[in-house]
Amino acid sequence: MIIAIDGPAGAGKGTLGRALAARLGLRHLDTGGLYRATALQVLRAGEDPADPVAAERAARGLDAALLDSPDLRSAEVGNASSVVAAIPAVRQALLDFQRAFAATPPGAVLDGRDVGTVVLPDAPVKLYIVASTDERARRRHEELLARGEASIYERVRAEIEARDARDSGRAVAPMRKADDAVEIDTTDLTPEQVLERALAVIDART
Ligand code: DC
Repeated sequence: MIIAIDGPAGAGKGTLGRALAARLGLRHLDTGGLYRATALQVLRAGEDPADPVAAERAARGLDAALLDSPDLRSAEVGNASSVVAAIPAVRQALLDFQRAFAATPPGAVLDGRDVGTVVLPDAPVKLYIVASTDERARRRHEELLARGEASIYERVRAEIEARDARDSGRAVAPMRKADDAVEIDTTDLTPEQVLERALAVIDART
């Protein structure tokens, strides 16, 4: 069983991915974490996330320990991750890891931007998770505050819009709903309701 979940920042992909994996006994990979870890490695080396050579080097030599770093969730790393993610060599370097993860029994839930379109185009279940920009900004803002980071709602909203534009406007593997993905709008739903809808889609597809 392989489940691909895509959608923009703050729509609830991660929450759903973790819940589905727990419910179905699958492994879960937050693929955005790979791009965040790459960005963090570049920033810690004092290099520029937009530098293709530095970013590819970081992606190829990714330190798995960084995937658990609390620094991964900072706004600075979030913005830099969308910059390294636009570099084709970075995406290529992270592709094999994602496919190998999905192919390992008993199967997996992967969430990101291009899982259903590029990483796992043959996944039997594809979900595309969306929510209004206001609601996504509100969730990110609350998340940052809860972690003790200084956060201004208007700024978070502007950063989300910039990140959406970069992620869906890039030339390689842009964020896009796969033709065979089922869209769920989480704006007015609780995490439990989103999980129930996703389980219904999975039931129908398998
Ligand atoms: O989901 P997230 O906010 O952790 O993702 C961080 C960045 O990584 C996002 O702005 C775009 C990039 N990303 C990507 O290009 N492809 C993926 N499959 C996942 C994330």
